[in-house]
Amino acid sequence: MDKLAAYYAQRATEYERIYAKPERQADLAALRARIGKIFAKKAVLELACGTGYWTDVIAERAQQVTALDLNDEVLGIARSKKNAGKVTFLRGSAYEIPDQGRVHEALFAGFWWSHVPLERLDGFLKEATSRVKPGALIAFLDNRYVEGSSTPVSRKDAAGNSYQTRTLDDGSTHEVLKNFPSDGELIRLASRHGWGAHVDLLEHYWMLTWWAPK
Ligand SMILES: C[S@@+](CC[C@H](N)C(=O)[O-])C[C@H]1O[C@@H](n2cnc3c(N)ncnc32)[C@H](O)[C@@H]1O
Repeated sequence: MDKLAAYYAQRATEYERIYAKPERQADLAALRARIGKIFAKKAVLELACGTGYWTDVIAERAQQVTALDLNDEVLGIARSKKNAGKVTFLRGSAYEIPDQGRVHEALFAGFWWSHVPLERLDGFLKEATSRVKPGALIAFLDNRYVEGSSTPVSRKDAAGNSYQTRTLDDGSTHEVLKNFPSDGELIRLASRHGWGAHVDLLEHYWMLTWWAPK
């Protein structure tokens, strides 16, 4: 297992504290409403679902959700959520999405784009958009860098990826790749894998939507 996945396995039980930050509550409430609405009645494929914070929001109104993550530690928590009965959980990699027969009308990933190395983004998006129905709704949600609220960037590599040093409750420290793309970069990449790309910028988050190629 790679460093990123091992870090999230270790963080599983403390992960959802990130959603309790007081300064982010207004944005999160708006996003929960928006995300619940855009996926209503759809069959949704979710990548890197983690502890199921957004899976539960989506499953409330979606027809069905298939949620994938590499870690059993987080999937166990996701399975305990209120709307888990409408969700099929799968253990697997977002880079090798199991073939579901392109039955999903929408694709969602929260806080995953920022962890994909820049040099892998194009290949990842090609794979992901080929796993859902032609013309499917695609949505990615992730962090904007906010001074004083975000963990500072500790270094950048030659490819332009940025990294943070994060500490868990047991005192262990982890270097985590975490990118903060501009809205222009998001639109440019999304437009290579479909049409109608649009970015919403909130104070703490960005949300990118588009439609997969027909
Ligand atoms: C930042 S968390 C996001 C969790 C959830 N989507 C959310 O928004 O709360 C990143 C997740 O990616 C998962 N992960 C790491 N590497 C992965 C991979 N190659 N394929 C699928 N999931 C992976 C981790 O287990 C973790 O749950």
